[in-house]
Amino acid sequence: MSQSSESTQSSRSSRSSQGHIFVTRRIPQAGMEILEESGVRVTVFQQDEEKGLTKEEVIEGVKSCDVLIPLLTEPIDREVMSANDKLLGIAQMAVGFNNIDIDVASELGIPVTNTPGVLTDSTADLTWALLMAVARLVPQSHNYMVAGRYKLWGPNLFAGGDISPGGSGKRKVLGIIGYGRIGAAVAKRSIGFDMDVLAYDPFNKKGVEADSLAQWAEFDELLEKSDFVSLHPLLTPETHHLIGEPELRRMKSSAYLVNASRGPVIDERALVRALRQNWIAGAGLDVYEHEPAMADGLAELDNVVLLPHIASASLDTRGKMATMAATNALAHLKGEPAANVVNPEVYDTDAYRARVSRG
Ligand code: DGY
Repeated sequence: MSQSSESTQSSRSSRSSQGHIFVTRRIPQAGMEILEESGVRVTVFQQDEEKGLTKEEVIEGVKSCDVLIPLLTEPIDREVMSANDKLLGIAQMAVGFNNIDIDVASELGIPVTNTPGVLTDSTADLTWALLMAVARLVPQSHNYMVAGRYKLWGPNLFAGGDISPGGSGKRKVLGIIGYGRIGAAVAKRSIGFDMDVLAYDPFNKKGVEADSLAQWAEFDELLEKSDFVSLHPLLTPETHHLIGEPELRRMKSSAYLVNASRGPVIDERALVRALRQNWIAGAGLDVYEHEPAMADGLAELDNVVLLPHIASASLDTRGKMATMAATNALAHLKGEPAANVVNPEVYDTDAYRARVSRG
């Protein structure tokens, strides 16, 4: 195992000194400390921030551990989960878990946990950073400055789209697709910009709960009326390519699209066509359909802002996510119901009981 490291501090813990937790890639220190102080054996496979694991390396790790802490970069499918019939749980360090086949985990009796809640604000903040940056041409203006091209102020210099009513006096419409915790936090931040908010949720088609911030809209209506469309649904087969050519053509040509959810929610090749041919005004993306790759032509466009999946990347948030993942992992290890379990029904299955009794 290249780059792997182990830490075993068996005498220091009053909680558990049994078991082995396999961490695919190093998580922030706050989480590592919880693991190390528990006294369990911890293996961190990859210390290098820029290197991932092959599937074979994940499988090898799973074979030897009791609990797995993966990141969203590792696909956890049937083959991986079947590698060890004593695996007691998976504690993902992310709120999204589309990299893990939950149906298979439940069938095999493996509880899976995530890290909800703690990244809501930082993700909503970054969504707004993207929205403002793409509308007001912030990266383009920055690049112009650092290239030494600013010679004379001019009335047309980097004139972008309004967010507040601005000169037109017309309230802008923010359309939020996926109105869960993060969608609602994005809506909350619109108050200072005097916007009207429309919401649509693909998993709650009857309408989002009444909330003073957003008005429920049908999908097409939201696309047609919004000046900004911000995506926050879970990635599932139903939301894969939720935004493709027909949806992009339905949007206003002056509208901006922002995505800080999961890349495959957008048909990225259709988006490149839309941006090239000005079906919409611009896009701010934190995530990509085939991450970390980008669709051909995306990076050459001048009406995009592109970020490397950093929506939750504030120091405090990432520390808290690591703390939650570590705490969840220790609960899995003790065979206790973990907070933040996404498939709680698993605890009541023979498959799960058999795992605990084997361990
Ligand atoms: C998540 O948690 O799902 C984000 O995409 C990364 O923080």
